[in-house]
Amino acid sequence: ALPSKVRIVEVGPRDGLQNEKNFVSTAVKVELIGRLQEAGLRHIETTSFVSPKWVPQMADNAAVMAGIVRRDDVVYSVLVPNMKGYEAALPTKPGEVEVFGSASEAFSQKNINCSIAESIERFAPVVEAALAAGIRVRGAISCALGCPYEGEIAAEKVTYVARLMKDIGVQHVGIADTIGVGTPRKARKALEAALAVYDIGDVSGHFHDTYGQALANIYAALELGISQFDASVAGLGGCPYAKGATGNVATENVVYLLDGLGIETGVDLDALVDAGAFISRHLGRTNGSNVANAILAK
Ligand code: HMG
Ligand code: MG
Repeated sequence: ALPSKVRIVEVGPRDGLQNEKNFVSTAVKVELIGRLQEAGLRHIETTSFVSPKWVPQMADNAAVMAGIVRRDDVVYSVLVPNMKGYEAALPTKPGEVEVFGSASEAFSQKNINCSIAESIERFAPVVEAALAAGIRVRGAISCALGCPYEGEIAAEKVTYVARLMKDIGVQHVGIADTIGVGTPRKARKALEAALAVYDIGDVSGHFHDTYGQALANIYAALELGISQFDASVAGLGGCPYAKGATGNVATENVVYLLDGLGIETGVDLDALVDAGAFISRHLGRTNGSNVANAILAK
């Protein structure tokens, strides 16, 4: 049976915006986050504490964290690659920190400038400090379904990285299809590879929609019993270190699918569509969610 409830992690403010060339003002980011939580999202990837030279769009991380109007029932999650990022993030009171590794050595080098083994050494003190401070820790495993540099990625590599993350205390892993190449059988294999290490409630799916397969992959994950997914309002996003990768699966599309399946998300689709229209307007982009476009055309 499919899960009766799904937790959607809204990654638009981070994954969605990080790739935007023109700087999006802090006020717009803050308003987007406000609208997303008003729409019922309860877990929001808010920003990242990475090098502003590498990702200039996230340079206002602390200002965004200071500007948002917080709700007690929302988890504000931030990406942190190392202790420097953690030390900058801590005073901004994140509810969760997310370390991000890769199942591909080549992508690890391009994205965070170190090997998989080195990345785990950088994450370990972050995880230890966060857990001691009572902050949740999530890990992302990029390129779990394929790599822009290495091509096919063996499921064993996913298990390998999941095991390394588990050993340093990471509580949850997100299986990421960074370049959106996966199809349902591959998605299932990658998720099962993580499930060899983590419990079913501690694995989520992060599917970019480059090849239009993300909803099919989510359905395959639901069939496995996975009940947490990352998604990006209006389908915003991409990774600066994965050329041609488009956005995450649009949150509107995920909510429409789950509504149709009778799976509870707590998200109000109309309010979410408004939030997606707001940010698309600001970016001067056509909305990347076909569900949103269909609703807006009514
Ligand atoms: P590095 O050059 O190896 O780090 O970068 P370093 O420790 O040698 O430091 C070099 C410089 O960066 C120094 O500054 C540090 O102070 C500074 P300088 O002396 O040159 O002026 N620095 C920092 N500044 C701010 N915050 C920090 C930080 N750390 C060092 N935390 C590093 C390593 C990871 C920092 C760099 O490679 C980086 O920032 N990469 C960006 C990675 C990124 O944000 N990628 C996109 C997010 S991941 C993603 O999108 C995938 C995901 O969505 C899942 C999926 O779809 O696959 C999660
Ligand atoms: Mg991503």
